[in-house]
Amino acid sequence: MNKKINTMYFSATGTTKKIVCGIASKLLDNTNETLTVNTIDFTLPSARDKSVAFTEDDVIIVGVPVYAGRVPNVLLKYLNSAKGNGALAVAVVVYGNRNYDDALIELRDILELNDFKIIGAAAFIGEHSFSKILAKDRPDEKDINILKDFANKIYTKIITEDKFESVDVNGNNPYKKYYMPENKEGIPVDIRKVTPKTNSNCINCKLCVSICPMGSIDNNDVSKLNGICIKCGACIKKCPTNAKYYDDKDYLRHKEELEIDYAYRKEPELFL
Ligand SMILES: Cc1cc2nc3c(=O)[nH]c(=O)nc-3n(C[C@H](O)[C@H](O)[C@H](O)COP(=O)(O)O)c2cc1C
Ligand code: SF4
Ligand code: SF4
Repeated sequence: MNKKINTMYFSATGTTKKIVCGIASKLLDNTNETLTVNTIDFTLPSARDKSVAFTEDDVIIVGVPVYAGRVPNVLLKYLNSAKGNGALAVAVVVYGNRNYDDALIELRDILELNDFKIIGAAAFIGEHSFSKILAKDRPDEKDINILKDFANKIYTKIITEDKFESVDVNGNNPYKKYYMPENKEGIPVDIRKVTPKTNSNCINCKLCVSICPMGSIDNNDVSKLNGICIKCGACIKKCPTNAKYYDDKDYLRHKEELEIDYAYRKEPELFL
């Protein structure tokens, strides 16, 4: 295969990264060449300051997590600044076992509008950012085997076809509104203002400061936020002493409801 393999992903708690890098690595295995994968991780704000451009010689596995049934809105500006210039792309969304709603079709459309040629798309499942039990430890071995098979099919498509039409995916355009949780009376609740708290377990290691995708955690006082919180789960799940937590009643109710309603296993969906 005469293409340079690239990954491009946002991954606050690491599940999207696992899927995207897994697909790229299996694609690379197929090539029998001593190439390496070029990685563009745009999780941190500094990475989103630089826009990227590709050529017809590139293939890019592009992945984002599903937030509120859509592509995370904080990423739209960056994604729209990427220039495909005819590069081949695989669109991947990773969701927490509730639903990916219109996120995959939205990502596909964004990439096509920016002159990428879509050769495949997929929705995988990752442990939910809000929870330690919903889709726990996914992607797991079964997901990885599906991912490898998907990468093999992408490889075959690249070497056997020379004209790429768009790929049909699940979802609708116009896209659904951003999904909102409901309280027990069925009234939608806005959890956008909810932020994590910090307890006395904190050892002031500053890890949370360096991993917050919004760059919002204050370096001098890690219990303070200087910007928005997207509830990505990074500071909660990665804190070595479990010092970060939520106490908002609506948020916690929503998390527990998701854990009950979506306790059954969903499987990845692939589009070629
Ligand atoms: C703000 C927010 C909204 C989310 N919305 C959804 C959703 O609508 N459907 C779903 O199944 N998972 C949802 N998730 C869960 C993530 O899509 C899922 O856990 C994903 O694996 C996280 O990717 P990452 O590990 O790369 O950060 C949401 C997570 C966050 C932080
Ligand atoms: S990662 Fe945890 S322990 Fe380290 S500074 Fe942040 S809250 Fe404190
Ligand atoms: S403060 Fe909010 S946005 Fe920043 S890492 Fe924590 S959950 Fe994510």
